[in-house]
Amino acid sequence: MIRAVVRRAEHHHGDQVVGFRDGWQGVLDDDFEPLTIERCRGILPRGGSILGMSRLTPYQVDGGLERVKATMARLVLDGMIVVGGNGSLAIAHRLNEDGIPCVGVPKTIDNDVAGTDLTFGFDTALHVATEAIDRLHTTAEAHDRILVVEVMGRDVGHIALRAGIAGGAAMTLIPEVPFDLGAICAALKRRHDSGPYASIVVVAEGANAVPGTWEMPTYEVDRFGHRRLGGIGAAVATEIEARTGIETRVTVLGYVQRGGTPTAFDRVLATRFGIAAADLAHEAAWDQMVTYRSDSIGRIPLGDIAGEIKTVSPELIEVAEQFFA
Ligand code: F6P
Repeated sequence: MIRAVVRRAEHHHGDQVVGFRDGWQGVLDDDFEPLTIERCRGILPRGGSILGMSRLTPYQVDGGLERVKATMARLVLDGMIVVGGNGSLAIAHRLNEDGIPCVGVPKTIDNDVAGTDLTFGFDTALHVATEAIDRLHTTAEAHDRILVVEVMGRDVGHIALRAGIAGGAAMTLIPEVPFDLGAICAALKRRHDSGPYASIVVVAEGANAVPGTWEMPTYEVDRFGHRRLGGIGAAVATEIEARTGIETRVTVLGYVQRGGTPTAFDRVLATRFGIAAADLAHEAAWDQMVTYRSDSIGRIPLGDIAGEIKTVSPELIEVAEQFFA
């Protein structure tokens, strides 16, 4: 994405780009580097970001807005390209309203940004999760076990549901549909009693039980107010084994699904987003986000998507449910 922004800005528009290290932290600390075509050589197949990230926003720091404005004035910047998920994009919209020109680029493995069919990172995470499930089938089948796979998905189940469908999961638990462990265990027990079945259960880390049916694990909250998720897979696995008597183990994919080499699809999407973001900035079309819909790149006002979350479609849930237990 960065490589494409720089290429388009420098080559096509004759604009200059600087990159701030660790997001808004770098803007506040004046920690930046000039980004040139030369600097971006070799980064295409790399995951993550050469600039790093942080969850800090200018609103969490005394005088933050003034510091951002001062940095921009000193470097003679026209505006910012903000890359991230729902939190970052909502902040970008708020900053526009406070006089700091920004455009947005949707990037999260969760794929939960409204207004765009896809965010970059998601396809890579989905591939990793699907491959992991494929590999887990071997042990599940050889040992007649239930294997629970915990994947990311804070508010939505895009990774879980699609990886579950692609990997042949016997059950998939997502944040959009509260789960009932009683019904799940009964279905898994029936499945194992009726044949030599092994089962994969995919759990999104943000999945929740139907209120009052099961005591959920508790989560810590970090200094930015984010719940530190993780652990639901193990808790669910323990409960399934206790209720069904079938040996049940857990695998947590964690950051494995968020790193490494991006898929070809993600590289192309990020490249298209980068070109479009450089164009928005050059046109001074601030307060907009680049979008991907029906294989076309477009734009949408950030105000239209701020505060929204794109959940999985009911149609996809129905597809997955056809294969449950
Ligand atoms: O927002 C993307 C995401 O992958 C979520 O699914 C997950 O909850 C979160 O990042 C975890 O991030 P970290 O552990 O770095 O705070």
